[in-house]
Amino acid sequence: MLVIKNGFVVLNDKIVKKDILIDDEKIIDIKDCIDIDNVTVIDATDKIVLPGGIDIHTHFHMAFGGTYSSDDYESGSLAASTKGITTYLDYAILKQEPTINDLINDKLKLAKNSYVDYGFHVALTRSDDAILDELKYAKDYGVSSFKCFMVYKKENMMISDEQLKKILLKAKQYDLLINVHAEDVDMIDNNIDAFVKNNMLNNYYHYLSRPEEAEYLGVLKALKIAKEANAPIYIVHNACKDGILAIKKAKQEGQIVYAETCPQYLNFTCDVYKKNDSYNYVCSPAIKGKQSQDALWDAIKDHTIDTVATDHCPFQLKEKLWGKDDFRKTPNGCDGIENLYPYMLDKANKKIISYVDAARLVSYNPAQIFKLKNKGEIAIGKDADIIIYNPNRPITFDIKNSLSNCDYSIWQDYQYSGTIETTILRGKIIYDNNQSCAIKGYGKYIKRG
Ligand code: URP
Ligand code: ZN
Ligand code: ZN
Repeated sequence: MLVIKNGFVVLNDKIVKKDILIDDEKIIDIKDCIDIDNVTVIDATDKIVLPGGIDIHTHFHMAFGGTYSSDDYESGSLAASTKGITTYLDYAILKQEPTINDLINDKLKLAKNSYVDYGFHVALTRSDDAILDELKYAKDYGVSSFKCFMVYKKENMMISDEQLKKILLKAKQYDLLINVHAEDVDMIDNNIDAFVKNNMLNNYYHYLSRPEEAEYLGVLKALKIAKEANAPIYIVHNACKDGILAIKKAKQEGQIVYAETCPQYLNFTCDVYKKNDSYNYVCSPAIKGKQSQDALWDAIKDHTIDTVATDHCPFQLKEKLWGKDDFRKTPNGCDGIENLYPYMLDKANKKIISYVDAARLVSYNPAQIFKLKNKGEIAIGKDADIIIYNPNRPITFDIKNSLSNCDYSIWQDYQYSGTIETTILRGKIIYDNNQSCAIKGYGKYIKRG
């Protein structure tokens, strides 16, 4: 048994000063005072106690950009555990695998050493009859969400508009959620061709080839197709003002649409593509201008944005450097799993959002939307996935202290006003006071559905 005493506990709608009793992986009591002999006690006086973070957008060991993303399930989950993440949902990309079942079985083998809990979304890169038929079994495999890329034509990952409609209709039949990477592929490819012809190849042209309008048109198209199919849709990694305003309008009109953004879009602007290390920030969608950044914060505050996730897809510096002088050669993706919760809690500590908001965006909503039924809140009966945050202990991020396989970070030297001191996963302390005590393989596959 474990008791967390005297902390300010972040519930779904308020913060209360309570003690929490944990037994056998679960939260079994929350009340004013719990005094029991012979139990481990964590003193959380003056600290904030929040639900474990759920990063619903990772790409571990992903074949992309001519290489693999540098974090695998082991290194990525270990790094995650040191920064308050207790569960992640990774994108399993359907490639040559004959069936979704094969893909999930392969992924389960790769993820078996995970330090924290995990599940998968499946990215559908084709929509032949066999795959569409298999969707009816998806929940048996524990998968209740799928991704469609409206881009990455050359990478053979793109789903056409017609395919997207077919997939949405099938998904609706089986109560599955479709996640969409929404950008206008034709506009992007035309822009790239024009820039290449004129030898305009530095990384700022990554942004100019995928400008605000490309994302806006992609979001409009995704909303339209989902409306026609009368199916819910989840739009990943929103980065642009007009796109998010279109989502806001669709929500007001009653369409079921969920919106995600990522800290890189909340924190940086497209000016990063003018820096000497511009290639490090190359991700898709591209990081947009200041107006978009402001609009994303507005959308966080008015609840248009439902979730904040990382899109964690880092590459080694030497691989990023392939694109130093030619943006087409820069592998797309940034690190983020060690930044997500510290970043959002920093904003809460600075009163830009509330702690309840931070927990809603990084834990509660992810669990609700993606059917992680035992996760996402500090409540009796839920998994004891809990973090303890010290708002009075600033910390500066240094990739040298990281347990990830990243050799640089776009968050290097970021100064957080507070520190996540303890991470607890299903009742087990897996990180405490600068010390990892995570156990390889303790992470459990969470079947969703
Ligand atoms: O640049 C990115 N985001 N890389 C990962 C793949 C994706 O589009 O999510
Ligand atoms: Zn994407
Ligand atoms: Zn992604």
